Amino acid sequence: MTTINLTVNGKAVSVDVEDRTLLVHLLRDHLNLTGTHVGCDTSQCGACVVHVDGRAVKSCTMLVGEADGTSVTTIEGLAQGDQLHPMQAAFRDNHGLQCGFCTPGMIMSAIDIVKRHGGKLDEATVRHGLEGNICRCTGYHHIVKSVLDAAGRMNLANAAE
Ligand code: FES
Ligand code: FES
Repeated sequence: MTTINLTVNGKAVSVDVEDRTLLVHLLRDHLNLTGTHVGCDTSQCGACVVHVDGRAVKSCTMLVGEADGTSVTTIEGLAQGDQLHPMQAAFRDNHGLQCGFCTPGMIMSAIDIVKRHGGKLDEATVRHGLEGNICRCTGYHHIVKSVLDAAGRMNLANAAE
């Protein structure tokens, strides 16, 4: 067993877990943050993406020891009270989801893509950036539309700050 100290969605947490525990299982099984999904055992689907120190990471690929001391944001940490994050709102408004299983990972990856590319985002860049996220329902068209819409909303919000 090992004690892992990290910040999750702005709150300091300390958890005793086995060394071999993956970050996704710490989040889901120990902190009950089940919005982060497990969709494969081959690190391919992207349903488990969270932010670790501000960068998108597949949490099924990270051992808890690597996450010790970091700041993690999950899908549960995006909204401010009743106000959705612009990426969440854009997915809602552009029909960017159907069953919703892939959506938390898509949204966490998409926010990272927008932050990295800012105003230089186009459809090809979004599609390339989301290659590590698999959706079985939507055909991706509305997901890409959502991300491009959200990029505008996020850049506007940043410009206003
Ligand atoms: Fe599929 Fe992590 S659960 S990539
Ligand atoms: Fe169903 Fe993407 S909305 S897997």
